[in-house]
Amino acid sequence: MLAQMLFMQPPVPALPTSLNFHGKTVLVTGANSGLGRAACLHYLQRNVSTLIITVRRASEGEAVKAELLAHPDVKNEPKILVFELDLSSHSSVIAFASKLRAEVDCLHIALLNAGVFLLDWKVSPHTQNEMTFQVNYLSNAILSLLLLPLLRATAEANSLLAPSYLSIVASQKYNESRYIANPIPESTTIFDAFNDEKGSQPWLLYADSKLLVRLFVKELAKHVDPSTVIINCMCPGMVKTNLARNLSFPLRLAGRLVLSVRARSPEVGSRVLVNATGGAGKESHGEMLVVYQVLPVIPWIESKEGERMQTSLWRETVEEAEKNASEASVAASSKVS
Ligand SMILES: NC(=O)c1ccc[n+]([C@@H]2O[C@H](COP(=O)([O-])OP(=O)(O)OC[C@H]3O[C@@H](n4cnc5c(N)ncnc54)[C@H](OP(=O)(O)O)[C@@H]3O)[C@@H](O)[C@H]2O)c1
Repeated sequence: MLAQMLFMQPPVPALPTSLNFHGKTVLVTGANSGLGRAACLHYLQRNVSTLIITVRRASEGEAVKAELLAHPDVKNEPKILVFELDLSSHSSVIAFASKLRAEVDCLHIALLNAGVFLLDWKVSPHTQNEMTFQVNYLSNAILSLLLLPLLRATAEANSLLAPSYLSIVASQKYNESRYIANPIPESTTIFDAFNDEKGSQPWLLYADSKLLVRLFVKELAKHVDPSTVIINCMCPGMVKTNLARNLSFPLRLAGRLVLSVRARSPEVGSRVLVNATGGAGKESHGEMLVVYQVLPVIPWIESKEGERMQTSLWRETVEEAEKNASEASVAASSKVS
């Protein structure tokens, strides 16, 4: 009991009853597990019209779709589209974005949730980039740039009566990144620093990748008018999911003990995700939300070093996106709207 009181996270209020997704097309990546699957259920319970879910294996997507549709709270026969997306591969990200643009004519909300937690050095066989960097940061950033034109067009087609949302699942753990105490020197690119196996500290890969997400959201927001698309990120707190699945058995066991005392359920944690994509307003543009409130950035983010990293990250990311996707679509997304 004492342990529970000491380690308890603040409660997450129920989602506002006014939150309704009728008429909206919503994308959730990583929908087959944990927070993504729970977020899908919230959207369905709030009358979403078209839900687009992504998974790595199509067969798994069909199973999740059937399970979601069979839920007793899901009544209005929503359309659920299943798409394959593997964030370890640029070509999968680009193919997904093209297929989406070809198959849907509007997108009101993109909730980029998929992510990994690894404690080992692993390289994507597709891009040769370190895996946590590739999945948690780079692919989500490129996908954001590729989805922005559709999100923008959707708000504009609706006479800007309501902005679209581009929301990325981040983590407060970003403030544990090693680059805060030891900034990447100007002579090294951020991408090279993240791909340097010799200098790596695998137990910090996750925090490091989430620092990049935080900086990217802050920078991207500067390029987009929040009357058109609100760009934000959020931290769901500690949540009991499959995120630790890649760790060794003893670490998973220890993790399970901590989770059993302290963690939120996916249903509760995913309220933070869903609220960021409708309950939150322009005050959240470029910000991180925690339990429905904007969490001020740590001072380092606004320091000279933090701003230098943010600017370099933006330049390197847009260059990488342009190298891999059609230059026109990336350039259109990265200009101020
Ligand atoms: N749980 C927490 O305490 C916590 C706290 C803060 C932030 N988060 C963030 O919340 C998000 C969701 O995580 P979760 O806790 O719900 O964990 P989870 O249950 O492990 O779900 C992760 C999802 O991401 C997908 N994914 C992993 N690698 C992928 C790849 N290469 N390409 C495409 N999809 C991939 C997984 O698909 P597969 O099943 O195919 O692997 C799964 O659907 C992550 O971004 C995580 O960093 C979690």
